[in-house]
Amino acid sequence: MARKKISLIGGGQIGGVLAQLCALRELGDVVLFDIVEGLPQGKMLDIAEVGPVDRYDVNLKGTNSYEDIKGSDVVIVTAGLPRKPGMSRDDLIEVNSKIMTSVAEGIKANAPNAIIIVISNPLDAMVTLCQKITGFPYNRVIGQAGVLDSARFASFIAWELGVSVKDVTAMTLGGHGDDMVPLVRYASVNGIPVTELLTQKYGAEKGKEVMEAMVKRTRGAGGEVVALLKTGSAFYSPASSAIAMAESILKDQKRVLPTCCYLQGEFGVNGFYVGVPAVLGEKGVESIIQFKLDAEEQAMMDKSVAAVKELVGSMK
Ligand code: APR
Repeated sequence: MARKKISLIGGGQIGGVLAQLCALRELGDVVLFDIVEGLPQGKMLDIAEVGPVDRYDVNLKGTNSYEDIKGSDVVIVTAGLPRKPGMSRDDLIEVNSKIMTSVAEGIKANAPNAIIIVISNPLDAMVTLCQKITGFPYNRVIGQAGVLDSARFASFIAWELGVSVKDVTAMTLGGHGDDMVPLVRYASVNGIPVTELLTQKYGAEKGKEVMEAMVKRTRGAGGEVVALLKTGSAFYSPASSAIAMAESILKDQKRVLPTCCYLQGEFGVNGFYVGVPAVLGEKGVESIIQFKLDAEEQAMMDKSVAAVKELVGSMK
């Protein structure tokens, strides 16, 4: 089997962690692209030099030339500014739209068969723009948001209940903003509803309050990290989340991961990129998994989608 090739556009905080994770998991050969001279070359040399220690053997190249991404199977985009304390993701739209435009053109010209995973914020708008400019089919342009938002939700549940994070499943849908939709009803500890466990622990009323607090924390979790870091936003967790998506695609695992996908009627949404559960395999999004939302969930979804529409509409 031919070796896979992964290109990472943006060699900042997330880009560096992505490169290291690709190497550690030997997902394939890796190219790290950035416009800053020396930065991607330095990071890739740094990562390559511990191959003998970490026992990975892949080609790692840092570059300032789009030519080097030719033949990529997967391209992950993190180019763009991260937010600073007090900023929302949406505040980044103007500057990051310009960056995304040049990045999408570079990918279109050099890696026309790649599957693109966008991480740059504001996510829902940046994926939309990336697809428009590349003109790639919708199944090959997706965004990372839901894997991380869901992992944050699952972490808070595990910490609250004092159980292993490995045994909690939880999912968020919708846009990657303050109106995202953590699915309370489906959160479980090895299949046992979290709502039931919280009721056992606290009684029905307090249990509900505890869940609401976790939902609120999930919605603001990115901002919580930004407020602590002060100089940028989360980078380990978005990198790991995008790698889970890339691995499912590269190895055709068909994992069901919450993914920012283009919807054509699913969940009542038409013509917008929104986070939903998707089967990710060698073709990118192979299917979208639909299920019935209850009235409260649908109302939250509608609110989140309205925010995505407004955001996308604000792009020049
Ligand atoms: N082409 C390629 N790379 C670019 C371009 C461009 N036109 N413009 C800027 N970059 C690079 C910067 O040089 C920098 O190295 O993008 C990188 C961004 O890295 P960081 O500033 O460290 O940001 P990071 O924390 O990695 O986040 C990147 O992901 O989660 C989102 O909100 C976050 O939008 C942000 C993005």
